[in-house]
Amino acid sequence: MSDWQDIWEQDGARQMWSIPDMQVVELAAKWKKSGVMHRVLDIGCGIGRHVHHLAKHGFDVYGSDHSESAIRICQQWLQSQTLSAEVWCGEMEEIPYPHATFDACVAFNSIYHGTYCRLKGIMKILHDKLRNGGECLVTLPSRENRMYGRGECLGPHTYLSPGMYDKLFSHDGERGVPHHFCSREEVERLFAGFHIQTLRHEELRLATVRGEAGVVWLPIPKAFFWRVVATRKDQNA
Ligand SMILES: C[S@@+](CC[C@H](N)C(=O)[O-])C[C@H]1O[C@@H](n2cnc3c(N)ncnc32)[C@H](O)[C@@H]1O
Repeated sequence: MSDWQDIWEQDGARQMWSIPDMQVVELAAKWKKSGVMHRVLDIGCGIGRHVHHLAKHGFDVYGSDHSESAIRICQQWLQSQTLSAEVWCGEMEEIPYPHATFDACVAFNSIYHGTYCRLKGIMKILHDKLRNGGECLVTLPSRENRMYGRGECLGPHTYLSPGMYDKLFSHDGERGVPHHFCSREEVERLFAGFHIQTLRHEELRLATVRGEAGVVWLPIPKAFFWRVVATRKDQNA
């Protein structure tokens, strides 16, 4: 059973991961306005904050996650709002749709939970499932992240988390979950089949609701991630 199975059973974790990331909100608005982005895939969708947001804004949404709890919570959330999306439980490589199915993809804090080799494989799959000109937002931990180099080393720049994200997840804080940390060069290599539109390096922010203050975005100190927005290169051009 995945560690994420336990993580998503905790109220604290669900709360921190229930408000959509601002960059996803901005991208969704841009995609909507373009009139050509309809079918969106969310890999490692968790409890579905982005699935939910995208479905609410009229996209045809598909989401996968290997945590059964996450998928169950995601489905209940969608049903409670009479929204629909295709969500399934599976490993991130299992995208049961043909080549070039999707106009866009979100892979937010998900596809780096393995070695570089696995990450490279999933980037290949993402490239295959996006149509030419399709766009993606992918986040990847950087080597300036405070978790870099901590915990058991599984391979070059990949570590089993010793549980340092205690503020993000209420008990063990991703203890035992593998993370691969990327350099800028590695990011550029992973996106060789794409045109990188923007490449940001910043601390992760997660939202919480604080009484009258409403939604407050909390930066997680030294939780540095790359945020890549990229367009799939037209292979026939
Ligand atoms: C940090 S959470 C992010 C969830 C969501 N993308 C979001 O932004 O709210 C990472 C998610 O990736 C999922 N995940 C990790 N490894 C996975 C794998 N090998 N296959 C499928 N999902 C995976 C976890 O179950 C978890 O729900």
